Amino acid sequence: MCSSGESMRLLCSLVLVLVPLSAGYSLDVEHSLEFSGPSSSWFGYSVLLHRHGRQTWLVAGAPVANGSSSLPVRSPGGVYRCNITPEPRTCKRMHTEVSSCGKTCEGESDHQWLGVSLSRQPGEEGGHVLACAHRWKNIFYSTKDFQSNKLPNGVCFSFSSDLETSRHYIPCYTDHQRKFGENYASCQAGISSSMTEDLVIMGAPGTSYWTGSVIVYNTSSRQISAYGNDETGAVNFGSYLGYSVGAGHFLSPSSEEVVGGAPQYNQKGKVFIFTIDNSRLRIVFELPGKEFGSYFGSSVSVVDLNADGLSDLLVGAPMATSNTREEGKVHVYINEGQVKLVEAEFQLTGSSSYAARFGQSIANLGDLDDDGYPDVAVGAPQEDDLRGAVYIYNGRKEGISAAPSQRITGSSLGHDLMMFGQSLSSGIDVDNNKYKDVAVGAFLSDSAVILRARPVIQVKASLTLPDQIDQQVALCRDRGTPTVCFNVTICFNATSKHFKGPIGILKYNLTSDLIHKSSFPHRFYFHGNGSLNSTKGDVKTRHGRLTCTTHIAYQRRDVKDIYTPIQFEVSYGLRETTQKHVFKTFPPLKPILQQSAGQRHTITNQTRFARSCSLGNCSTNMQLSSHLVLPDQQDFVALGSAQTIILKTFLLNSGDDAFLPRLTLRFPDNIHYVKVLQNVSENNLISCDVMKEDNSTDVSLTCMVSSLVLPAGSQVSPNIITELSVLIMSSSGDHGCNWFLRSDNYEMEKYLHDNAMSLSFPLKYGVNVNIHGFVSPTSFLFGDEDTIPAECYSEKLNYTFKVLNSGPSRSVDTVVDIRLPKILSPHRHKLQKVISLKWKLLGLSQVSIPVGDLLLFVGTQFCGRGDELCEHLICRLGNLDVGRDATILLEVTLNPAVLLQEPVEMHKHTGIPIEFCHSFHKRIIIIIIMFVAVYLL
Ligand SMILES: *[C@@H]1O[C@H](CO)[C@@H](O)[C@H](O)[C@H]1NC(C)=O
Ligand SMILES: *[C@@H]1O[C@H](CO)[C@@H](O)[C@H](O)[C@H]1NC(C)=O
Ligand SMILES: *[C@@H]1O[C@H](CO)[C@@H](O)[C@H](O)[C@H]1NC(C)=O
Ligand SMILES: *[C@@H]1O[C@H](CO)[C@@H](O)[C@H](O)[C@H]1NC(C)=O
Ligand SMILES: *[C@@H]1O[C@H](CO)[C@@H](O)[C@H](O)[C@H]1NC(C)=O
Ligand SMILES: *[C@@H]1O[C@H](CO)[C@@H](O)[C@H](O)[C@H]1NC(C)=O
Repeated sequence: MCSSGESMRLLCSLVLVLVPLSAGYSLDVEHSLEFSGPSSSWFGYSVLLHRHGRQTWLVAGAPVANGSSSLPVRSPGGVYRCNITPEPRTCKRMHTEVSSCGKTCEGESDHQWLGVSLSRQPGEEGGHVLACAHRWKNIFYSTKDFQSNKLPNGVCFSFSSDLETSRHYIPCYTDHQRKFGENYASCQAGISSSMTEDLVIMGAPGTSYWTGSVIVYNTSSRQISAYGNDETGAVNFGSYLGYSVGAGHFLSPSSEEVVGGAPQYNQKGKVFIFTIDNSRLRIVFELPGKEFGSYFGSSVSVVDLNADGLSDLLVGAPMATSNTREEGKVHVYINEGQVKLVEAEFQLTGSSSYAARFGQSIANLGDLDDDGYPDVAVGAPQEDDLRGAVYIYNGRKEGISAAPSQRITGSSLGHDLMMFGQSLSSGIDVDNNKYKDVAVGAFLSDSAVILRARPVIQVKASLTLPDQIDQQVALCRDRGTPTVCFNVTICFNATSKHFKGPIGILKYNLTSDLIHKSSFPHRFYFHGNGSLNSTKGDVKTRHGRLTCTTHIAYQRRDVKDIYTPIQFEVSYGLRETTQKHVFKTFPPLKPILQQSAGQRHTITNQTRFARSCSLGNCSTNMQLSSHLVLPDQQDFVALGSAQTIILKTFLLNSGDDAFLPRLTLRFPDNIHYVKVLQNVSENNLISCDVMKEDNSTDVSLTCMVSSLVLPAGSQVSPNIITELSVLIMSSSGDHGCNWFLRSDNYEMEKYLHDNAMSLSFPLKYGVNVNIHGFVSPTSFLFGDEDTIPAECYSEKLNYTFKVLNSGPSRSVDTVVDIRLPKILSPHRHKLQKVISLKWKLLGLSQVSIPVGDLLLFVGTQFCGRGDELCEHLICRLGNLDVGRDATILLEVTLNPAVLLQEPVEMHKHTGIPIEFCHSFHKRIIIIIIMFVAVYLL
């Protein structure tokens, strides 16, 4: 079925995420009753369950059915009533006729879509039934004058409760009306309908150029009220108001308001709630749709979901697209009083299947499962390739369950149904089991199905355990050995509101020690075929009687954990019985257990071991104290020093026993845990495990005591050693560690404050950067040859500086500032000219800065920091890792003019010596020590 190709694969994968549902709650799908109508009549486009006296019927609309042979009408559609009996089931066409319709009226029933909508007066015992044909036309003017259009006024037939006689309503007809589109001329009344005790509500979406309207006829006062596009202009042209209608108690539990859906309003759809104000409907609330093209408001259902007396509202948006297209959804609005409708946080979505059109139909089923809240059905007729599906959702105190309790697919019923779920009806108990049943139309297969509701049984269960277990008293013997044991008593009280037959057998599974620690075995077992962690049984129940059964739970010998509560669980269900009888009426349906919110037919209860405690609730009182010991008695840790940090810790439990005490240390991942040092003479040894935390750069270290218990009054003092490693990305700053101390036992709030600690230590860069340098040539001769004019002397000097980072941290953003003397005091000559300045980091490519024609000036002998007479040369070396060095090469020429000056006295400074040779006929070597200052910034 799943062919290749991208879009098909998408479809197939969607089919796999269908909602897992409990088996059939609470409609029976094994004994469904099928009805079929004339082929290609669209029988089942609308359905209605109806009762008159002892007679029940399924009424079905077949809007494209051919006319009965006696009438020369083309496809007028039809309404059929079918006896609800065991086989054979027969359907009979109901008689409708528009005998006369007005002074300027002549009816045409061709293609009128009789049976497009069906509704019934509320109440189980009789009442009128309404069937409409929204395309019924007045052709009075069009037959006279070919310029005029036929006017699709629409007609509704109101049948007597016995379905034998009918009268008709043509609410949109007025004398002398001839202009198509204007006012009510093409209103198409009856495309949707709804009835209350005395209101007949008809949707008229064609009113005023498809603005639409809702028309209400009060059968008691004979007053007609309608929404006419009022001065407010609240409804736009083309909105299709009246595509769906309903009525309910929105303002107060005793008021009656009318609902109209306008699925085309601004392409997003809107639902309006109206109050009846004589002949007018006045808008009291608007619920706007949010998605383009979702057809929000094409179906509405008024249900008091939370049984508070105020009507809540479900609005279908069957074309709403979530992931693929037209999956459809239903919006839920809960009425907080005075028509304040608040949308639920979730929408109902069925299976979110491709093109399912979930929300095409919505029906109030009443309280299907006797829990006091009405339930609803939502149709998704195009789900599963037009086979269709219906979903059941249960009303709740807080509104409605977000997930369906049942999904019934057309294909599972095995009748080749198509478009199953297009129409829905409920409110009538067809098989007299006191539970109202549900009719579902499947018009593309010209059929409808009745699904009968199963009787519902409520079970109250209890699981009784002793208050506490005394390990010192062995009440039982197991294989000859005294064994601690206790009674586990399970009781059931089954009742049913309506089901009177035998409830039969309840089966149960009983599980021991449900929440035992995973590292420890079950602490209790049952006897059976060997020793069992769970046992099962069944009890015969009778209405309203308490039925109990007792099992003995035995304690295992090697129980270490006497602190974790001992929890038992019982899950129960009705034993399925097969019924083989042949029935004259409908086969009786098996009862089903009631499901209330979140209840899984499972109950738990717990007990505990007896302990002698000194504090209330056996509270522990654990205390944690610890401090850090940093390396070298410093108050910081130098990055990269790879030194160890010791965390001295002291634990004390001054309360009652603490089971499974755990110390958790969280620290950043550039700290490495090394080991835990402990005093071996202490009997409580500690073992620790490191774990990298998800989504965090933190690491956690969890330490446990080997004996699993930190007994009352005991203490432990482990020293935990961690090591810092210099990661490339580490940065300086304060590094924090957090310490928590916990155990499985209760600890009173007031003792918790000393169970956690935060410790931090500064992490700093510590660097030792050295610079040394030399110059070449280290000396030169000057003045030896009188023949060379002084101006021509030019002496090049090459300085080399080495910068070395000997750690322990990397040297970040290392800058070297070289100061060159500008002038040779007291003379004002330029001293030297920088030819080039280059530096390189070991292993990195050479960096050079162009010096250009910059001429440097005469300088003093040496430079101090901030010396005005010196020139700065800045070398930015960047990050210098530990052990790395950098080389700076500086090439200068001396200004020859300087050489003509008087020799200056010698300065004894450590620095870079340059030798000047000054000759007055004899060779004198003068050494000038010129200080080139180098700073690290
Ligand atoms: C749990 O057990 C206690 C006594 O052991 C009992 O009073 C209580 O009703 C039990 N709860 C349930 C849900 O059975
Ligand atoms: C279990 O209950 C029975 C009946 O009440 C009682 O005789 C028996 O002593 C109980 N056993 C234990 C272990 O409490
Ligand atoms: C029962 O529990 C014990 C201890 O937890 C376990 O070893 C054993 O496998 C369990 N037996 C069954 C049948 O689950
Ligand atoms: C069983 O439950 C029903 C309904 O809640 C109650 O009326 C009846 O008294 C209960 N029976 C017993 C024996 O507790
Ligand atoms: C009991 O357990 C068995 C096996 O796990 C399961 O098939 C059965 O459905 C359970 N019965 C109930 C009532 O939970
Ligand atoms: C980790 O982060 C991702 C994205 O922020 C989030 O979806 C996921 O739930 C997180 N997991 C945990 C264990 O916090």
